[in-house]
Amino acid sequence: MTGAVEAVSRLDALRARIDGWKREGMRIGFVPTMGNLHEGHYSLVRLARAHADRVVASVFVNPTQFGPGEDYERYPRTPDADVAGLAAAGCDLAWMPAVDAMYPLGLECAVRVHVPGITGVLDGAHRPGHFDGVCTVVARLFNQVRPDVAVFGRKDYQQLAVIRHMVRDLAFPIEVLGADIVREDDGLARSSRNQYLSEEERAKAPAIHRALLAMRNAVQGGQGWREAESAAASQLQAEGFEVDYAVLRTPLLAEPPGAGAPGDDGQRVALVAARLGRTRLIDNLEFSSNS
Ligand code: PAF
Repeated sequence: MTGAVEAVSRLDALRARIDGWKREGMRIGFVPTMGNLHEGHYSLVRLARAHADRVVASVFVNPTQFGPGEDYERYPRTPDADVAGLAAAGCDLAWMPAVDAMYPLGLECAVRVHVPGITGVLDGAHRPGHFDGVCTVVARLFNQVRPDVAVFGRKDYQQLAVIRHMVRDLAFPIEVLGADIVREDDGLARSSRNQYLSEEERAKAPAIHRALLAMRNAVQGGQGWREAESAAASQLQAEGFEVDYAVLRTPLLAEPPGAGAPGDDGQRVALVAARLGRTRLIDNLEFSSNS
């Protein structure tokens, strides 16, 4: 379905519209975004649409999830194109608050949400405080929108796991769905940050997807996971990447157990975060080590 999308930036307007839908017994789907939308985001909207009567998408570049020296200031902001794209994707309402509408007491006084454990590794270790910022804003967005179902991309694998943990622990009455990664023809995962890449970097970037496939193939072929990880990291370094991590993990991001460990269903995820110049890219591949 395509049509007009209403864009609101005041919380009372958002609440009025959603209250009306709820009074009519409608199921509300929600897609949180930081804008600069592309096909990856629109696939989330379509998934939400398939699970809800009305779809709300938020467009908000969240300052609390960027560390010092990261790309908060230069993060691409394209609100008009986002609203047009959301309409075409079947979204009904765009929630586009300013920073002071999201953080009315100011950033210093904002109540923070911290998920322990799973946020201490991988992106949590490389971007200290990042997931506190993500959970802090997503908890607010959930309270503002009060969706029945919320959709997150599987490209941000650790983020999805952290959100599931938060939803379960804080008893948000929300079903969380993960949407498949959308890739370019050459395998590069769609991301707003891809546009930072120079022509030369863009040509190199699909090596991340190849590294993920190589780790999967190595493990499925019987190679040890540590060897597969170090081969992937070496390959990416040789191609000019600065590698934050290239790892194999269980679905809850633990190191894989030894062969035949009780309770191990063989599900694995290969994850990479690597920089090309100033651009940090992440990607992952879920697979079964038994096949
Ligand atoms: O995945 C993102 O774009 C952001 O981390 C999110 C979930 C919209 C929170 O700001």
